[in-house]
Amino acid sequence: MSRVSTLDIIQAKGQRKLSMLTAYDYPTAKIVDECGLDMILVGDSLAMVVLGHEDTLSVGMPEMIHHTKAVVRGAKRSMVVSDLPFMSYQVSVQQAVENAGRLVKEGGAQAVKVEGGATILPQVQAIVQAGIPVQGHLGLTPQSAGQLGGFKVQGKSAQAGKQLMEDAKGLAQAGCFSIVLEAVPAPLAERVSRAIPVPTIGIGAGAGCDGQVLVVHDLVGLFDRFLPKFVKQYARLGQEMARAVTSYKQEVEAETFPGPEHSFSMKQETLEALDQLLNDG
Ligand code: KIV
Repeated sequence: MSRVSTLDIIQAKGQRKLSMLTAYDYPTAKIVDECGLDMILVGDSLAMVVLGHEDTLSVGMPEMIHHTKAVVRGAKRSMVVSDLPFMSYQVSVQQAVENAGRLVKEGGAQAVKVEGGATILPQVQAIVQAGIPVQGHLGLTPQSAGQLGGFKVQGKSAQAGKQLMEDAKGLAQAGCFSIVLEAVPAPLAERVSRAIPVPTIGIGAGAGCDGQVLVVHDLVGLFDRFLPKFVKQYARLGQEMARAVTSYKQEVEAETFPGPEHSFSMKQETLEALDQLLNDG
């Protein structure tokens, strides 16, 4: 079973829809991989849904490499894409290439993702030239949420829509093998998807995209601080976990756990010998 490649992703455009989910650890990556998703994103959403930060800005290269390694251990077939975190590629082209290289070489990722349009084209070109596949990310780009005025839908005006279209064309031309469109009106995402040669992966960008991505903690109900409109919750694992933890606590207090089936016994003669030794002091 060979791993999904960038060629597979590009060739899927117009043929079938692509599926992508985030994962940040080995067991989740293993499940997502075994379910046959095309791509796993080690997103910097890690900061919020796993590490409890307010935004995505607080994670750096050490955290991204650490979690990418865990995901790569669990993913045998899906392509693993790892986010370049805030301030790991914006400063210079050299910084971008070096850090993209670290996610691939140390983390084991097959591709990296960067947020932004025209301003980061030199970085995208240089990373691609270094032989590292790049996924773009336009629309609501959480690393610049402060500048965008919060976690808001982007590209709502005609002018903003035109800018997003130009950014998407620029990223595709610079060599991105796919582009995430986050929180973008569906008709705009559909037009962008038709206009560029590489797949668009939507999150809150409607059904006209070439594929979809969600944060796995949102999908399974493990993150309850807020739920964006575009999330469909397929399970309530947080509630299920709370039920299990409460049952455990109650059984420990009631002395019904652990039962004999969860305990290790000793041979009677060994026990007698032990008691003898203990009594002898
Ligand atoms: O960090 C992340 O999880 C992402 C997705 C929302 C696309 O960038």
